Amino acid sequence: MTIAEIFKTMDYGAAPEGNKEALTWLEANNRSFGHFINGTFTKASAGFKSHNPANGTFLADLSKGSADDVDSAVKAARKAQASWAKTSGHARAKVLYAIARLVQKHARILAVLETMDNGKPIRESRDIDIPLVARHFYYHAGMAQLAETEMQGREALGVCGQVIPWNFPLLMLAWKVAPALAMGNTVVLKPAEYTSLTALFFAEICQQAGVPAGVVNIVTGHGATGEAIVTHTDVNKVAFTGSTAVGRRIRELTAGSGKALTLELGGKSPYIVFDDADIDSAVEGLVDAIWFNQGQVCCAGSRLLVQEGIAEVFYAKLRARMDKLRIGDPLDKCIDVGAIVDQRQLDRITSLVDTHGSEGDVHQAKCDLPEGGCYYPPTLITGLHAAATLMQEEIFGPVLVGTTFRTPAEAVEVANNTRYGLAASVWTENVNLALDIAPKLKAGVVWTNATNLFDAAAGFGGVRESGFGREGGWEGLAAYTKPATAVKKLAPIAPYAPGTANAADTIDRTAKMYIGGKQARPDAGQSQAIWSPKGKLLGHVGIGSRKDIRNAVEAAAKARSTWGKTSGHLRAQILYYVGENLSARADEFAARLDAMSGKKTGAAEVEASVSALFTAAAWADKYDGQAHGVPIRGVALAMKEAVGTIGMLCTDDAPLLGLVTSVTAAMAMGNASVAVASHAFPLAATDFYQVLETSDVPAGVVNIITGDHAELAKTLADHLDVDAVWSFSSSDISADIEARSAGNLKRTWVNNGQARDWNAPDMRPFLEAATEVKNIWIPYGE
Ligand code: NAI
Repeated sequence: MTIAEIFKTMDYGAAPEGNKEALTWLEANNRSFGHFINGTFTKASAGFKSHNPANGTFLADLSKGSADDVDSAVKAARKAQASWAKTSGHARAKVLYAIARLVQKHARILAVLETMDNGKPIRESRDIDIPLVARHFYYHAGMAQLAETEMQGREALGVCGQVIPWNFPLLMLAWKVAPALAMGNTVVLKPAEYTSLTALFFAEICQQAGVPAGVVNIVTGHGATGEAIVTHTDVNKVAFTGSTAVGRRIRELTAGSGKALTLELGGKSPYIVFDDADIDSAVEGLVDAIWFNQGQVCCAGSRLLVQEGIAEVFYAKLRARMDKLRIGDPLDKCIDVGAIVDQRQLDRITSLVDTHGSEGDVHQAKCDLPEGGCYYPPTLITGLHAAATLMQEEIFGPVLVGTTFRTPAEAVEVANNTRYGLAASVWTENVNLALDIAPKLKAGVVWTNATNLFDAAAGFGGVRESGFGREGGWEGLAAYTKPATAVKKLAPIAPYAPGTANAADTIDRTAKMYIGGKQARPDAGQSQAIWSPKGKLLGHVGIGSRKDIRNAVEAAAKARSTWGKTSGHLRAQILYYVGENLSARADEFAARLDAMSGKKTGAAEVEASVSALFTAAAWADKYDGQAHGVPIRGVALAMKEAVGTIGMLCTDDAPLLGLVTSVTAAMAMGNASVAVASHAFPLAATDFYQVLETSDVPAGVVNIITGDHAELAKTLADHLDVDAVWSFSSSDISADIEARSAGNLKRTWVNNGQARDWNAPDMRPFLEAATEVKNIWIPYGE
């Protein structure tokens, strides 16, 4: 071939990476592995085989973890946990640092093993997966070092059950193991059945790094093994990454168990290209957005939205670029697109495209697919309707679907027309437009003129059905901790028994509910009498029904779009004003509380409520995000956004203070709430809305319903337009709320029968529950 011809075709030969070292390691283990429990490998037992998806060759026999194996691993983790948590942060930092160094030392074999096991191009495992693994352990070595000063008042959760997917096998392990260990937890981790090898190599790294026996345990197996981990009664936290269907099941299985839970699930992330974008960069970005790891990426830019005026040019360039992608042996360093992880995943992709592709125009890259492996051509399907199956379903393969939009507002609408909310990319040369769009997108991560950027310092995770919780950053670390204070049991509190009404009590004093800024009668037309402990009739409240909750959720939805956009300063002013007005009526509220409780604690509770209002006001303009210095040319702005509509079951043991704390913390962060008042002592709440009415609180920002907690919690937890449910109720409803929340995977914060100190001045747990962190990556600096 002449030089001129080479320039014309830009053709080049193969550059295969050697796999001798990896094969030697497999042979040294007789290509047969047990589990890693209590610092040693168990004898290999019956199980399943791992294959190289690029050519179908056998890699190793793996053991299928039984319930007994899981139990041994959890026992080992439990035994090791207390002393691991007691070691100094510095001691844990040294271990994590040693892991990071060993990952770097073994980088080559790890990259090759990952590629052989998963099918991803060696360029990716070598340049992205493994360096990010090392970075994660370095970063968390630092977190362990700082834990004692920066995480005061927090402690390890205990034993963490972690189940990970096959798309970034070692990286997902790092995301789970590093923060857990940094804070003094121990782990039982199950890699995905298709890709266990690097996790087993990592077990050897743990031995070399001096990780104490039992701190890291790895059990291989299928879904049943994962289920045994997440349901084990001695596991304190479950962290899962994988499909939304399994995430939903895990939410149901762990409901009411008191286990902490984080779920990182699927996505259908929009890739939005405005007409002023640098088109060539945006086309190249798509190679990383959807053909990176064959599109098997939870945050893949799998939904292309192009502004109408440039669509034809953009598609033409994109098709041309697709035809130049090189597909083939993933160990070849010149390959862009490797193999799909397994035949089952390939069948799933093929079937989705074959069944629904004809709804649009299908273009598949002109390429010869290698024989004998799991390959699928890079595919573009344009002209799809926003509601089409392929626009909505996660394909999890190298298939990009696209549509067009006209205006920025329409781009946002189409982008958010999905049940997911993991990530988004925005391409424009106009910084104003990018920063106008970013906050409007329902996503946990937004990349500006970039895509698929990750870093240990920037929390990663989604909203909506993409799950909850963040991995990475301070918020990811916090998800492996709990408050260090001892918890007390919450005694059930029932309304006082009826006494005898006297003549004066016959005047109707039925307090209404408060919906959309108006006093509302209960839809079912029923009310409940409230009695003092001495049998005096204090008044009546409505018994709220499903319909009342629905009306309140609708009012909240209307209110939150504008309330969420107000400034912290404005919200603070309104909250101070509420505090001032409550203070002016302090005696009346104190008398009401005393009458309901028969105690003399009302004045102190009112004073604490006014103080809580001031605290919420104080935080409204101070609970800010951060700018993370990520080691890529840019910054990640970790913005704290309102969760949306929060349903609340308010406490009975501080009927005014509990409601005020919950509602105002939510308000301060820009949320709307539907608060169900204390069931036993609701009259303080119904008095409180009169204060809201006179304090410039916009209609619908706070809605107050009275009635039975167990009944009303069902509707709140089922409702698809409620984004979070908090329960401080003394009724036993935590399990029901968590199980029902699986529907739209809303965030929950329930007490599981534990009492809370309502006089504790620190409002941050509420503010944290009232916000989601969105990381907005923007180009910055040279
Ligand atoms: P999956 O969600 O079934 O597997 C992920 C992990 O969960 C694996 O380790 C698996 O063994 C485990 N698992 C399965 N059932 C379980 C259960 N009941 N309890 C506990 N653990 C369980 O995903 P799968 O079947 O491999 O892929 C199916 C689809 O899921 C893909 O096509 C893709 O759309 C999606 N997916 C999304 C991922 C993401 O990161 N968002 C990752 C993997 C898959």
